[in-house]
Amino acid sequence: MLNFAIQTAREAGSVLVQRLGAAKISNKGDIDLVTEADLASEALIIERIRSYYPQHGILAEESGEAVLVGGKKSEWKWIIDPLDGTTNYAHGYPCFCVSIALEYNGVLEVGVVYDPMRDELFAAERGQSATMNDRRIRVSEVEDLNRAMLCTGFPYNVRERHDFAREFVNFTMNAQAVRRDGSAALDLAYVACGRFDGFWEDGLNPWDTAAGLLLIQEAGGRISDFQDGPLSIYTPKVVASNGLVHSAMLRVLNVRS
Ligand code: IPD
Ligand code: CA
Ligand code: CA
Repeated sequence: MLNFAIQTAREAGSVLVQRLGAAKISNKGDIDLVTEADLASEALIIERIRSYYPQHGILAEESGEAVLVGGKKSEWKWIIDPLDGTTNYAHGYPCFCVSIALEYNGVLEVGVVYDPMRDELFAAERGQSATMNDRRIRVSEVEDLNRAMLCTGFPYNVRERHDFAREFVNFTMNAQAVRRDGSAALDLAYVACGRFDGFWEDGLNPWDTAAGLLLIQEAGGRISDFQDGPLSIYTPKVVASNGLVHSAMLRVLNVRS
């Protein structure tokens, strides 16, 4: 199933690249977009799952939760973001990916994040480590927040939320650098391979995080919510790190002033 996820993510990535600069764009909300490419990529992934694993459940960003024929619930569930980084994509900013994960009875088993612009394929299988283009990856060894490069993202309802600005300022004053790249799944993959030392965001959905969280776990990192509580893919507040800067990140997140 890992190989199936890898192959499918690569095919969906090609769909995105083919349509880059030409896809029609519509608005889901004020600043929340969907493009023809999101829909084409998702249709391809769902079609592949339906033909190889017709009994499996699917949770996909654009189509929601699929009800299986006969109403039977499957123990297996694919969690799909067909295009993570839609706003980047719509502007031709080359930072976006396909994210595909698979759960069995609520436990993440497989996670794949594919960046078709750099041809970087991040993959993880529970208990089997994480790789980028078949080479094993590990989180970074940076211990000091002052030397850490962090990343964050802003949710689509950012205009109604003010906390993110305080957090952003506080991290900017405490870390070496803070980036905002616009693709949560890639951000998490970059923590897994040590490019970023930590990541935080409030307002994420299961399709944004499922594959990335498994990558981080398998690459030796740590994940939690903003209070150091356990994380599931349904937790919108995510802190992910190399483990070494995690407590320092939580302290910054919980400073009130
Ligand atoms: C978004 C991106 C972005 C994050 C948003 C997500 P989309 O996903 O991952 O980085 O800040 O919260 O919704 O809409 O591009 O798939
Ligand atoms: Ca997303
Ligand atoms: Ca998306």
